[in-house]
Amino acid sequence: MIRTKIEQALKMIQMKKEIKPEVGIILGSGLGVLAEEVENKAVIPFMEIPYFVSSTVEGHEGVLVLGTLAGKDVVIMRGRLHYYEGYSLDEITFPVQVMKALGIRTLVLTNASGAINPSYEPGDLVLIKDHINFMGVNPMRADKGESDNFLDLTNVYSAALGKIAKSEAKKLKIKLQDGIYIAVSGPTYETPAEIQFFNKIGADMVGMSTVPEAIIARSLGLEILGLACITNKAAGIGARHTHQTTLAVAQKISYNLNRVIKNVLKKI
Ligand code: HPA
Repeated sequence: MIRTKIEQALKMIQMKKEIKPEVGIILGSGLGVLAEEVENKAVIPFMEIPYFVSSTVEGHEGVLVLGTLAGKDVVIMRGRLHYYEGYSLDEITFPVQVMKALGIRTLVLTNASGAINPSYEPGDLVLIKDHINFMGVNPMRADKGESDNFLDLTNVYSAALGKIAKSEAKKLKIKLQDGIYIAVSGPTYETPAEIQFFNKIGADMVGMSTVPEAIIARSLGLEILGLACITNKAAGIGARHTHQTTLAVAQKISYNLNRVIKNVLKKI
């Protein structure tokens, strides 16, 4: 039963740190540095937490960080889990269930994305206003405890949080566009033909994460803010890219991403 697994993980985390975080944050590829700014923190390797699996990808550290950031109690996943690593969506989304059990009401999802929209440039930040699940799998398949599997996904990403993020980015003079994120399973990058198809069906950016966590978070009634960091132009649009360039560009964008997140935390 998922309930007992969540309770075991919860117990272990609460033994390490007495905290009731309000906000959960998942940091994507190359975006982990925000976790270093957390004050009074406890850092727990995923490996030590019951039923957590470990990230195997370079650029993903695999620790849970609990403490205070911009005056808010937070829990941060530094090191995201991906479907392409071979994990099931149940394994990938288990930490979201645990963060909810810890007490969060808001989840901030970040990722590295390839630009499909020709007006996006590497280095841009984009607010995720909706998604297309092109992974071929859905995390609501099978037993999810008390959740309704036939979940309505009309408003996955919170319009109210999006509005706050936009106004805070404006104050910081950081460009924040909005767009539709399409999730693929990976681990290969896309073909130019796939990117042309994704463009035709309305996607602005592409990546290999975020959607499983967003669906589970929605099923748990969490408010979601999604922020994509454009690390490259997608296949056939710009120069060819590698995981290394993704990480290098993500590290640069994380400075602006972190400033937007901290300002949003102060407002919620
Ligand atoms: N495609 C898929 N995932 C990605 C990309 C991309 O171009 N860039 C960063 N993550």
